[in-house]
Amino acid sequence: MRTEAGRGRGGFLAAALLAAAAAHGARAAEGASGGAEATAGFGADWQSWHAANDVSDMASVQRGARNFVSYCLGCHSLKYERWSRLAQDLGVPPRLLEQDLLPPGDKPAQYILTSMPAADSQAWFGKTPPDLSLMARARGQDYLYQFLRTFYVDPASQTGANNLRLPATAMPHVLSELEGLKRAVYRQAAGSAPARQVTHQQVFDHFEQIAPGRLSAAEYDGFVRDTVNFLDYVSEPTQTARRALGVWVVLFLLVFTWLAWLVKREYWKDVH
Ligand code: HEC
Repeated sequence: MRTEAGRGRGGFLAAALLAAAAAHGARAAEGASGGAEATAGFGADWQSWHAANDVSDMASVQRGARNFVSYCLGCHSLKYERWSRLAQDLGVPPRLLEQDLLPPGDKPAQYILTSMPAADSQAWFGKTPPDLSLMARARGQDYLYQFLRTFYVDPASQTGANNLRLPATAMPHVLSELEGLKRAVYRQAAGSAPARQVTHQQVFDHFEQIAPGRLSAAEYDGFVRDTVNFLDYVSEPTQTARRALGVWVVLFLLVFTWLAWLVKREYWKDVH
């Protein structure tokens, strides 16, 4: 899949995203009043969700790369990774790289940079979307997984969406087309106020799906896991090689220890 954002077309992409968000808002309202799509609540345990990703699963990392190019590159860069490195590590042949991943006009030797100018994103979102090269190491895989799975509809927010992992985030729910829309349901909980005052606060209880997306819940989960897997790979491209090498290093040390022990035995045999 080729990203819609060519160089200098970031404005178009952002406008399209905002339009999509508005359309979703309208559909959400329909879903809520119709109530037909409402399903059982879920997500009460979101803080214990794990990415459980596996960077050695190359097919998953490849799908994650495709997801990133299609859904994230419009706003986020991976400024420490080159296209050619990505193709080499992921086993993507040059023809496929050119055809499916590389934005028009980019060369394989270039870094993976978004076409969205930082000044524009600052104006549109109030924040420049951060570079994601090292995000998996900075925040952890579970954080990313929870972040991408806990967007919910919030009419009070400027983007129409809010997030449990990063409350009041400036990032729109760019995957709502895939995931559909969900609403956060709160419950009253007694607060721990001092001196006999009883206070009540709103505590997140569960999510309620109010509009379906293109993917089923299980498919969306796989989509997010692949994306996190890819970001995990990007945050340390050599980690699979490092682990594989580690086994040989330990084996070498074991053999070497055995040899050293043989030498020691030889040296000391006359003394004992
Ligand atoms: C329409 C632009 C846009 C797109 C597309 C987009 N993001 Fe973002 N993203 C943002 C903005 C803006 C922020 C800054 C949010 C903040 O700090 O409140 C952000 C922040 C983030 C963060 C950092 C969260 C943190 O804790 O600081 C992560 C991780 C992230 N995005 C992942 C993704 C992934 C993965 C995708 C693709 C599936 C994606 N984003 C697509 C705009 C976007």
